[in-house]
Parts: sequence; structure tokens; C-alpha cells
Amino acid sequence: MPLHIDPYRNVDGQSDPGRYVNSLEARGRVRSQIRLRRRFLKFAGVRPGWRVLEVGCGTGVVCRDLATIVGRRGAVVGVDPSRVFVRAARRLAREHRLHGRLRFEVGSGARLRFRDGVFDGALAVTVLLHVPDPESIVSEMVRVTRPGGVVAVQDQDFGTFALEHPDRALTRRILEGVARRVYADPWSGRTLFGMLRRFGLARVRLTTDVYQDTRLEPWTWSMLERRAENAVSLGIVGAAGARGWLDAIKAEAQAGTFVCTLNFYGAVGVKVP
Ligand SMILES: C[S@@+](CC[C@H](N)C(=O)[O-])C[C@H]1O[C@@H](n2cnc3c(N)ncnc32)[C@H](O)[C@@H]1O
Repeated sequence: MPLHIDPYRNVDGQSDPGRYVNSLEARGRVRSQIRLRRRFLKFAGVRPGWRVLEVGCGTGVVCRDLATIVGRRGAVVGVDPSRVFVRAARRLAREHRLHGRLRFEVGSGARLRFRDGVFDGALAVTVLLHVPDPESIVSEMVRVTRPGGVVAVQDQDFGTFALEHPDRALTRRILEGVARRVYADPWSGRTLFGMLRRFGLARVRLTTDVYQDTRLEPWTWSMLERRAENAVSLGIVGAAGARGWLDAIKAEAQAGTFVCTLNFYGAVGVKVP
């Protein structure tokens, strides 16, 4: 079967899975992303001593933050279908000396091997966007959370991806055209609030945060390069057009006028007894 165009659907099947290890870690280091992630974890209400699950943990960026929040009395379990990511997550946890509180397992979020109600909280950060059936994952997250515990989800929403660029028509064609073909729902971020309510969670709240980059960070650049690559392979633009589009972005950055913003929507709810 041909690979899906979204690499996060099957990282281990990619010709260079290491590229995605680097990409997640690069995103994790961007200052604006660190702030955004930590604000979301605070909003989710994770407490010291909790036992927390992160579904779709990737290389463990969020799990490492969670480990410092839950402290020595708590525990964090990360689950991801990619063996490459889980191996990288274990290595990075050791390097950060957090491995005592962190455990990583290979598996799908749609079929968790945990018993009902064993976690105080279950989180999925920028995962639901990448799966064809996000409800199957949320359903499992709700199942493994104890009554009174929290379920928290966060996603970027590519309907809000804004970029300053001299060619606005081409920018719209590339950003919207690629997002429509890569993701099951490119506007997934704004659906999360309603999804948690439909699952019967109590006290569901929404927080909207913005990723903002005026310096053309390496992570933003690699995301834009990937958009251009996809636009060519999907026939949205020719190779020369894509190169010109990327050159204009670099020129904005050199002139100090680069602006890129993207909304991240986070929703949290409490499992009712
Ligand atoms: C963009 S990454 C986010 C990783 C991590 N949460 C972070 O914020 O750094 C999306 C992750 O979803 C994982 N994923 C894809 N399909 C999944 C599924 N069915 N169940 C759980 N995770 C899945 C991918 O392997 C990848 O690690």
C-alpha cells in the first residue's frame, strides 16, 4: 500500500524516520512552543503525584515536561505506534535523567492495553490531527482515566495558519491545498471542545493559544519546506514556483518582516463517576 502523505501516520515506514525525530525535538526547543506547551499542561491541571498517560508521545517532548510536573511520587507513560520514536524517547529520557518516572510503550492510541480507570489524566498533544478517526483515541483515553480524572487534548488548526508573503494567492493555494490533502480534518483544533463534550465529560473548557514566529525558526522553516515539497508532489504548484515561494519567505526573514502564526486549541474535561 502506498504511504499516506502525512508522515506522522506511519513514521517507521518513511525513508528517513530520523528526520521526524529531529523535527519533533526541534519544535520542542522553540521558545514560543515551550511556553505554549507549558501553558497547556497548566491548563490541563496535571498535579504532582499523578499517574499520567500521553497518547502519541512521539520522542517524549511533552512526557519530559509532564515528568517534572508529577515529580518523584508520580509516573508518566507515553504510548506511540512508532518504534523509532519510542526508542528515541527512551534514550532522551535517560539523557535528561528522567527515566525513573517515565515509561514508553509501542502501541496505538485506539487500542490501549491498560485497564479502565488506571490514570489520573490522559493527554494527546498534536496527535488527533494526524489520525483518520480521532474519536477512537479519545474514547480509549476516557476509558483508562479514573472518574474525577482529566482528559486533555491539544491540536494546531491549519485553518488559522497565517503567513506574511508577497504572493497571497499562491500562499493560500499552497497552505490550504496541502492541508486539505494531508489531514483528515485540517480544522481539527476547533473541533476538540465539542468532541470532549460529546464524550460526556464534565466541566469542559477551551483554551486558544498562538504559535508566533517572527524569526523564521528552524522548525517553522522545515514545516514550510515540507508544505512546498507536498505542493509539488500534489501538483498544486511546479518545482520552480515552490522554490520561488520559499525564496520569498527567506527574503522576508532577511528583511526582518517575516510573520507566521498558527492557533493551537486545547480542551480539557473531567471524567464523571
Ligand atoms: C506531531 S506528533 C506529536 C508528538 C508529541 N505528542 C509531541 O507533541 O511532541 C504526532 C504523533 O502521533 C503519533 N500517532 C499517529 N497515529 C497514532 C495513533 N493511532 N495512536 C497514537 N499515536 C499516533 C505519531 O506517531 C506521532 O508521534
